[in-house]
Amino acid sequence: MSDVFRQIKFNDFAPESETFFQDTLKGLSQEQKTLPCKYFYNKTGLSLFNQICKTEEYYPTRTELHIMQFYSQEIAETLGSKCLLIEYGGGNAEKIKLLLNHLTQPACYVPLDISKEHLKQEAEELNRDYPSLEVLPVCADFTKDFQMPDPNSEFNRRVVYFPGSTIGNFNKEQAVALLKNMKRFLSHSDGLLIGVDLKKDKSILDRAYNDAEGFTEAFNLNLLQRINDELGGNFQIDQFEHRAFYNENQDRVEMQLVSRCKQAVDIQDQVFHFEKEEAIQTEFSHKYNAEGFAQMASSANFTLQKNWTDKNKLFSVFYLTLD
Ligand code: AVJ
Repeated sequence: MSDVFRQIKFNDFAPESETFFQDTLKGLSQEQKTLPCKYFYNKTGLSLFNQICKTEEYYPTRTELHIMQFYSQEIAETLGSKCLLIEYGGGNAEKIKLLLNHLTQPACYVPLDISKEHLKQEAEELNRDYPSLEVLPVCADFTKDFQMPDPNSEFNRRVVYFPGSTIGNFNKEQAVALLKNMKRFLSHSDGLLIGVDLKKDKSILDRAYNDAEGFTEAFNLNLLQRINDELGGNFQIDQFEHRAFYNENQDRVEMQLVSRCKQAVDIQDQVFHFEKEEAIQTEFSHKYNAEGFAQMASSANFTLQKNWTDKNKLFSVFYLTLD
């Protein structure tokens, strides 16, 4: 831990490796085998995700940044001065800096992330670059219970910033539950600034999750490597194949790891059997249109105030407030 970081109050609700173990056993014991996508993001996973974001095929990150850049003035005006910003799932320091650079006197920044390493890096960087900003990192799984730190700075409004279309990883019911959960620390006229990937032509989506350089494939397979490294698994990684496709009926990209042969895999003293072609479901990435998103959010009592989109209508940034 560096000296800079020592000065930052670090709030640790990090899940135990026991939780990863339990979730893995549970997921692989189901009729349809699954692994939760939140475990993609160890050090290797984060670096692979950053590589995905730079590929020509994966448009969301660059499109969202473009929207944030193009409408920065309007977004800053909408959020107002002295915001307390709570960022869900960090991920990209570039996005938060872009927002901070345009906001009027941002008061406090609370990054929330499951990855401790990532959180440390980001908190250090922001503490250095924005000396007057109070930075209160919270390491937590934001789908679980955690406590919001008490800021010292005065603020006018709390805004949850949830970029990257991570909301897409949840089905409608889970997404509503997640938004409802935010209400624990938001009050009337507080806001939610959220990046959402839009419904579009299947071919664009299929390409975005099957980049030619194979970063998405490596990102997906890294989950098995992580189980081997951290949980004592013996997956033969080359016996599994990356698969991703847009399921138009469900409005979501489905990512899977498909067994290339009939095989058995041990994780400590547990054995899991795979048929040839049997798939582990690793990620859903739901796509919305503006109406559908506003409707989902309204079930959690959020009202759509504004909506910024790129000219190709690939991605949207929504601003909603609590009724
Ligand atoms: C970070 C969850 C938004 O769903 O598009 C990228 C993760 N998976 N390529 C997404 C991801 C495969 C990404 N999110």
